[in-house]
Amino acid sequence: MVKVLLVGGGAREHAMAAALKRGDCRLYTVMKNRNPGISRLSEEVLLAPETDVEKVRGFAERTGVEMAAVGPESPLSVGVADALEEAGVPTMGPLKDLARIEASKRFMRDLMAKYDVPAAVKYGTFTDYREAVEFLEGFGGEAAIKPDGLTGGKGVKVMGEHLKTMEETREYIREIIEEGIGGRGGVVIEERCLGEEFTVQAFVDGTHVVPMPAVQDHKRAFEGDVGHNTGGMGSYSDKGGLLPFISRKDYDQAVDVIRKTVAALKEETGREYRGILYGQFMLGRELKLIEFNCRFGDPEAMNVLTLLDSDFVEICRKITEGSLGAGDCSFKDLATVCKYVVPVGYGVGSKGGQVLEVDEKAIADMGAVLYYAAVDERDGRIYTTSSRSLALVGMADTIEEAERISEGATAHVKGEDIYHRRDIGTRELIERKLKNMEQFK
Ligand code: AMP
Ligand code: GLY
Repeated sequence: MVKVLLVGGGAREHAMAAALKRGDCRLYTVMKNRNPGISRLSEEVLLAPETDVEKVRGFAERTGVEMAAVGPESPLSVGVADALEEAGVPTMGPLKDLARIEASKRFMRDLMAKYDVPAAVKYGTFTDYREAVEFLEGFGGEAAIKPDGLTGGKGVKVMGEHLKTMEETREYIREIIEEGIGGRGGVVIEERCLGEEFTVQAFVDGTHVVPMPAVQDHKRAFEGDVGHNTGGMGSYSDKGGLLPFISRKDYDQAVDVIRKTVAALKEETGREYRGILYGQFMLGRELKLIEFNCRFGDPEAMNVLTLLDSDFVEICRKITEGSLGAGDCSFKDLATVCKYVVPVGYGVGSKGGQVLEVDEKAIADMGAVLYYAAVDERDGRIYTTSSRSLALVGMADTIEEAERISEGATAHVKGEDIYHRRDIGTRELIERKLKNMEQFK
């Protein structure tokens, strides 16, 4: 029985923990607050910041884990995988140098340009305000404005959506550069892409790329896809691994972008990427790459890991050894819908600290899967924090049926000041997306 270190304490990591525990392993987890779901699945838990590289390494050494799996981007971007590898613990999650594919949007765009990776966009990167504004003014079209570094998915503002005037756009560029939003790496100004977004995640063992079913996330805070961007309010996937608005050809193109990026990363850094590579795509008249993440998506992990039939412990082992094959990764041929229950104000300022009553038995009895997220278990009670509270996944033959299961399960979560998006996975929302796509035909 292999001893595995898990780093991270969100719903994504709860889904990873549940998938690992379906295989033959003992889990040791580092997380910043006590996720009750992960806690129960672990032999031992260390409550510590996941970015505290020395603490993570020390815990790994003390517990004698034989392998590690890292959930979030922040520990990867500060070198947790490097430290674990140095300590002799093979790690599912890329080294710091390779995690730049997510941690630096400048690095990512430059890499795509240098190696001619398809689905690239027009862009420029700046640390000087005047040069940035000059570029913007000569850009000839709407742009997306992004801080170079990590912002938890909340730093991007798009002209025509969040930025209504040129003045507001200039002001946001100034803020990013002068206030150092996302670190001091400056600003990336890129072509605004139109269409529908989708996610393709892949297992990567250094050279082999094994893709997972496509997923659509919903970043906007409120029903009808309005409001501020969040880390993601919920997501769905379809039977067959595609989505109602993407074809096999679109999916294959997305996988090709991921494959070429893995090869480019190796060429550029001389190191092999071992972990999950996540591509966020926009499909309009053509396919565009919006961003890469160096880890599973959150919520997308809950869709694919709930579907995963193969032994995740073995997959992680093969990723770290460089011996992964397509036959090692099979998924149930079903649709999934994941809905996040979050505190009111999530993404713009929520206080958290409310008691949550979760009827786990009723949720399980109706066939839904519960993953705890950023909640805190204290004295036998579960408290919300300022971030997402828990995710409910329905799995069925159709998206609509899966939606009914996850929506039904939300009735078994009670608390003050919480909400979820009822529309994710509903026929109405999907028809709107299909209609949106018609303009590009
Ligand atoms: P990111 O943090 O890069 O995932 O961006 C967050 C969200 O901003 C994405 O999911 C998109 O909805 C939007 N976005 C990012 N880049 C672009 C772009 N080039 N064109 C249009 N929307 C974008
Ligand atoms: N679902 C978007 C992300 O994980 O960044």
